[in-house]
Amino acid sequence: PDSPVEHAKKAAAFACGDNYVKSGQKIGVGSGSTVKYFVQFLRERVRSGQLKDIQCVPTSFMTRRWLIEAALPVVDVEQCPRLDICIDGADEVDENLDLIKGGGGCLTQEKIVQSCADVFVVIADANKKSTALGDKYKVLPIEVVPVAYIPVQRWITEKFGGETHLRISSTKCSPLITDNNNYILEWHFPKDIPNRDWAAVHAGLVGLPGVVETGLFVGVTSAVYFAEHDGSIEVRK
Ligand code: A5P
Repeated sequence: PDSPVEHAKKAAAFACGDNYVKSGQKIGVGSGSTVKYFVQFLRERVRSGQLKDIQCVPTSFMTRRWLIEAALPVVDVEQCPRLDICIDGADEVDENLDLIKGGGGCLTQEKIVQSCADVFVVIADANKKSTALGDKYKVLPIEVVPVAYIPVQRWITEKFGGETHLRISSTKCSPLITDNNNYILEWHFPKDIPNRDWAAVHAGLVGLPGVVETGLFVGVTSAVYFAEHDGSIEVRK
């Protein structure tokens, strides 16, 4: 990594790994550019012999590729429904360590793998810190079954307000398709969510027919390793 923030992301991934990852563990491996350094951490520690007998459960197609290229043992939640730890990135982290995730579109597998893990720890650059969710990332990604995307958009606006947009692929010609063959809606939610009760918002959204999962991760994070711009690391628990 050449920029200070990339250097800090790598440092956060390695510090988090050194603190939490032990030989023999079953490890959930998140998605995104910060997690890429965590895969590098795993590869280096396994190659040096410091880490033995780990098993890795990826949360996306790309993370699976990185793990395979690093020659790390890859399994899935069918073989490993209970994980010792899951380490992932985030798009926004508030003061309660509640998260918005899904910038990479892999929120559903990230949520499944996180929910299988005894401990969930986040690695993120300091730009992701906020006081109230929505200050930084602005939208909440929601995975939806394709046939339902128009009714779900209507129900979200009627029930909670705000506006939703279908996430379009980088070709700009068609919807982004997730690893689960679904669409992503991006909800520009109102700023006046009652009591900022994100658990209630999540429950309301997943109760809508066709909604698969939301990018809200509420009350599940044990610690966050923030990569600061000066290259230092701040740990919040
Ligand atoms: C993927 O769906 C997201 O939840 C990622 O964890 C998130 O986008 C973090 O990515 P970066 O580490 O690249 O910022």
